Amino acid sequence: MTTIGIFFGSDTGSTRKIAKQISDHFGELAAKPVNINKASAADLAAYDYLILGTPTLGEGQLPGMGANCGGESWEEFMPQFEELDLAGKKVALFGLGDQVGYPKQFVNALGELFDAVEGCGGEVVAPWPATGYSFSASTALLDDGQFVGLVLDQDNQRELTDDRLKSWLASVAEAFEVSVATA
Ligand SMILES: Cc1cc2nc3c(=O)[nH]c(=O)nc-3n(C[C@H](O)[C@H](O)[C@H](O)COP(=O)(O)O)c2cc1C
Repeated sequence: MTTIGIFFGSDTGSTRKIAKQISDHFGELAAKPVNINKASAADLAAYDYLILGTPTLGEGQLPGMGANCGGESWEEFMPQFEELDLAGKKVALFGLGDQVGYPKQFVNALGELFDAVEGCGGEVVAPWPATGYSFSASTALLDDGQFVGLVLDQDNQRELTDDRLKSWLASVAEAFEVSVATA
């Protein structure tokens, strides 16, 4: 039974690829990932569990027309969060960024997604330690110093992605209270 909805924004395809890996990991528990530019608030509300992913583009911005990412994306979806009630739903977040190129606004878009989800009552689960990254500022940090969700840097730390993903997916599965069959 499908209970996990996966929605992403992407400019050059890296976030889309990770969304696909996440979907494959959960097998029949997860729906096929949907680009947020094709989704409505009702599409998100249909799931008990959500996994939302975004790159950070422009100068610390969500993907979308304002960040020149070639089309609509999370930026244009943002107003729809206002009509979305995520009370009682668990939401896991992941973000892609470039800590070397953009150390002062590293994965800031992930912070924006976090604020939007909390703003409509969603419970954000599976935070991620900020150790092992080198950056000077990020709005995607919680008060306890952890990131609000998984952070991946495909530009500079691609070799760490598989392990990071595996470890984070285990904590997402625990938070969602689902067990995943491993091959
Ligand atoms: C024009 C441009 C601006 C970017 N700005 C940021 C930024 O402000 N902060 C950050 O952490 N990463 C930034 N990045 C890095 C992207 O988030 C990263 O390359 C990501 O993997 C792209 O994902 P996508 O292929 O799904 O679009 C930027 C990349 C580009 C090309």
